[in-house]
Amino acid sequence: MKFIAKAGGQVEGQVRVPGDKSISHRSIMLGAIADGVTTVDGFLEGEDALCTLKAFRALGVVIEGPENGRVVIHGVGRDGLQAPSEDIYVGNSGTSMRLLAGLLAGQAFDVTMTGDESLTKRPMERVAAPLRMMGAVVETAEGGRPPLTLRGGQQLKGIHYDLPMASAQVKSCVLLAGLYAEGETSTTEPAPTRDHSERMLRGFGYPVEVKGATARLQGGGRLQGVHIDVPADISSAAFFMVAASITPGADLTLEHVGVNPTRTGVIDILKAMGADITLLNHREVGGEPVADIRVRHAALKGIDIPEHLVPLAIDEFPVLFVAASCASGQTVLTGAEELRVKESDRIQVMAEGLATLGIDAQPTPDGIAIQGGELGEGTVYSHHDHRIAMSFAVASLRAKGPIVIEGCDNVATSFPNFVELATKVGMNLEVAE
Ligand code: S3P
Repeated sequence: MKFIAKAGGQVEGQVRVPGDKSISHRSIMLGAIADGVTTVDGFLEGEDALCTLKAFRALGVVIEGPENGRVVIHGVGRDGLQAPSEDIYVGNSGTSMRLLAGLLAGQAFDVTMTGDESLTKRPMERVAAPLRMMGAVVETAEGGRPPLTLRGGQQLKGIHYDLPMASAQVKSCVLLAGLYAEGETSTTEPAPTRDHSERMLRGFGYPVEVKGATARLQGGGRLQGVHIDVPADISSAAFFMVAASITPGADLTLEHVGVNPTRTGVIDILKAMGADITLLNHREVGGEPVADIRVRHAALKGIDIPEHLVPLAIDEFPVLFVAASCASGQTVLTGAEELRVKESDRIQVMAEGLATLGIDAQPTPDGIAIQGGELGEGTVYSHHDHRIAMSFAVASLRAKGPIVIEGCDNVATSFPNFVELATKVGMNLEVAE
């Protein structure tokens, strides 16, 4: 599937983007191993979160829905998961594979997880290594790539793990394995990363102590089913935040967006570039801060992106590169080598696509330097990466001619109604085979 994004368009009105992907994954995982029923509203019905849902059905958990964002999970308790009858396929979803690896490492049965072409290229050694330290038996394909097999029947031991990279997935994997380990498990991260696992474990009644960069829990406890209200995903909202920022006359409000401080780097970066962003109606929903976000057009300027904001905006860089292309002067990103191991090599793929459109974008090993300029027209490739596809769709708002974006099927992994909402606010997107 491809998008044909016509040049120009408006960005106006009020929209609610779909539910947070990270929270949706975790709601199924924790609900499945909790005692009692967990109900979820605002669940992201995107392919990634649905892979997690199907994985737990394969592990013997009864899950109703999703129906209009509502999911009902009949928790089986901490020891109630059952051996799946076949390998578990998690599609494009790194979060499913890495978090499930932790949750399944201490089970009584063997499990093999496989993924699609993109996931099969992504590093899994980063979770296999700490799990082995805990006593898990983990097998991967060559180079630490999927498929990933966990051999059941191992008694895990708690460890302290100093994360070699700022990764919420690795942190969460170790903490989830810690639920099944003897004694205490703790992680220390080199920079703050999203803390949904810690918050949600607590929400399920499981004590997690967080002091500075260290999170700590004791194995052997139980989780209690809860109700979860999933806020709109700030990572999906980001496409519209940039869309409104770069489009003359734009005035858009994004409703009920999760603004957890470990996720708001995109707001800080855009504001530093001169964006006009206001957070309204601050409230707390189920342990997560939520707000409406109003964005109006503003003249952006290039900046050196502070490195401490990188993990707090890790999924938003493809679209931030579009903002940088529309800014005056140069934007420089450093300290972001993690972008090279996402659903695609997001530094390389964005640099190539922006160059096709006539932007001076120079990749570096850990970032990129982008000179603001005029976006032209042309054909770009998403490399089956949802966020690349949506970023170039946003770029069309300021392009001179149409942008054809090849390989857009994976938009459905995180934002199934992107085209509908983009059209609703005034963008000119066409879908073609
Ligand atoms: C996620 C963590 C991040 C992020 C991903 C979701 C999570 O990955 O890129 O989209 O839900 O924990 P890393 O931990 O690899 O940075």
